[in-house]
Amino acid sequence: MFTTTVKCSRCGQKYPPNEVLTVCKKCGGALLFQYDLVKVAASVSKKVLKRREATFWKFKELLPLSSQKGIVTLGEPYTPVLKLSRKRGMSFKNVYVKDDGRLPTGTFKARGMAVAVSKLKELGVKRLAIPSAGNAAAALAAYGAKAGMEVYAFMPKDAPETTVKECLYLRAKVYFVHGLINDAAEIVERFKEKYGWFDASTNKQPYRFEGYKAMALEIAEQFNWKVPNVIIFPTGGGEGVIGLWKGFKEAIELGWISEAPRLVIVQSSGCAPLVEAFNNKEAEVETPWKNAQTIAAGLRVPSPYASYLTLKAVRETKGTAITVSDQEIPMAMKQLFKRGLYACPEAAATLAALNKSNNTRLFDQDEKILLYLTGNAMKNFDTLPIEKEKVPVLTKNTTSL
Ligand SMILES: Cc1ncc(COP(=O)(O)O)c(C=O)c1O
Ligand SMILES: [Zn+2]
Repeated sequence: MFTTTVKCSRCGQKYPPNEVLTVCKKCGGALLFQYDLVKVAASVSKKVLKRREATFWKFKELLPLSSQKGIVTLGEPYTPVLKLSRKRGMSFKNVYVKDDGRLPTGTFKARGMAVAVSKLKELGVKRLAIPSAGNAAAALAAYGAKAGMEVYAFMPKDAPETTVKECLYLRAKVYFVHGLINDAAEIVERFKEKYGWFDASTNKQPYRFEGYKAMALEIAEQFNWKVPNVIIFPTGGGEGVIGLWKGFKEAIELGWISEAPRLVIVQSSGCAPLVEAFNNKEAEVETPWKNAQTIAAGLRVPSPYASYLTLKAVRETKGTAITVSDQEIPMAMKQLFKRGLYACPEAAATLAALNKSNNTRLFDQDEKILLYLTGNAMKNFDTLPIEKEKVPVLTKNTTSL
């Protein structure tokens, strides 16, 4: 193991890497694993990495696990990077998508949960609780099922039906909560000691970041260590973006890449606390977003925990923050379907943001822009309207259409 310590991202307090950790005991800040990167650089090279199987577990020197033997895996492939064909009127020439809809449970959340469950299992944790908009709970339920752990999922009553079904079939104990993810988080907070749950909430433990971090390493290798100029990422709690930022920073320190892409967060105009805080030059989200509403359930996080870290990731990489509307998101979904790509609303928000940036100075025409498709459209098929009665029904004797 190459981890040295786990450090509070706010006050710098250090914690031992092999204890069960949540947030900083002194200030409540988010904790981040630290590695001996000099030792990592001496142990593994780009050439060695290339020879290893194409799965994020190949970055084992940069994961906090004591051994590879105990990892909890459902088979996590490298997800494809595809160049997007240019559509009429779009000024950007080099747009790519990375499709994490191909991962177990159909979203990027599988990355964070695979690593978190592996490490927590190693530490002897048996009972996990999670407040979730849907996809994180489903991913935790799947890896928890594989690991033989108990999973307690707390979701808004109107969480996407598919994710509720996933959790129930994966044998998680599901509770609906009146309100949103923040209300669900309060319930986990209130009962976690009484019931002996590990609180696996977004940004309230250091483990999930390490799985998301591998997105950056995977992208770096897929782009032959010349990373895209820009990554557009749909953001709710912010864990994905924090993970990307941490991964790129470590890759820079290792000398594997020369600079990080500009990290651009996208939120829905119906719930955009991070975009607002970014635009107002605030260090963190000060007031929770009121009446949060959007079809992109994963982006409906009115008051993200440790928001200062997401904002730092965006600012440090010279990125920016964009909102898109609930009208623009389905249009972008359709544009992706037109190319054969299955993107859930959160994922399609990245293309909606790019559409909005056309003919602005946010990105240059020739820059490499990567849209991170965080999830599969199949997770939301039950919400997509169709006019089934308009589909012709044939008999086997039909002679013309
Ligand atoms: C498909 C999808 N994309 C993006 C997000 C946002 O991720 P994060 O909470 O890490 O910002 C979520 C969160 O639930 C999600 O389910
Ligand atoms: Zn602290």
